[in-house]
Amino acid sequence: MIIAIDGTLASGKGTIARRLSDLFALPHMDTGRLYRATGVAAMNAGADLTDAKAIAEVASKLEPSLFTEAELRTAEAGLAASKVAVLPEVRAALLELQRNFAHQPTGAILDGRDIGTVVCPEADVKLWVDANVEVRAKRRHAELKAAGDTITLDELTAQLRERDERDRNRKDAPMVAAADAILIDTTDLTIDAAVDKARAAVEMAN
Ligand code: C5P
Repeated sequence: MIIAIDGTLASGKGTIARRLSDLFALPHMDTGRLYRATGVAAMNAGADLTDAKAIAEVASKLEPSLFTEAELRTAEAGLAASKVAVLPEVRAALLELQRNFAHQPTGAILDGRDIGTVVCPEADVKLWVDANVEVRAKRRHAELKAAGDTITLDELTAQLRERDERDRNRKDAPMVAAADAILIDTTDLTIDAAVDKARAAVEMAN
């Protein structure tokens, strides 16, 4: 069973993916981590984030396990991720890794922006998770603040809009719900209620 979970930033898709991974004992890949690690590695190397060839080289040699969660979770890493994610060469360099993970014998859960549309269009269950932008900004702001980040809510809201727009409008693998995705709007849902909906969708497909 392959479960594809896509959606906007801070919509709750990562939490839903992790909870489903526990509930159904399926391995989980947070594909945003690959783009974040690529962005951070490129910044550390002093590379120009618009240089497709150089960044694709970074992506193809990526060792995501070498990065700590703390360095990948910053707002700066998220912004760098969304910049390198525009480059088709970078997306191509990360594709096989994601597909191989999806097609392991146990099945898998992947969350990201293009899992149901590009990485695993054959997924057994596709979820699209979204919430209103103010709610998402508040959630992410609380997380970043707890981690010691000093970004303000206004700055973060602007960044979130910028990233959503870049993700939605890029030519290659834009962020969009697959036609056959089940929509979960988490604006007014607790995390438990959102997970219940996701679980019901998976059980229906089983
Ligand atoms: O989900 P997360 O915030 O960690 O993703 C960081 C960025 O990586 C996204 O804003 C997006 O630009 C990119 N990304 C992507 N495709 C994916 C996962 C993430 O383009 N499957």
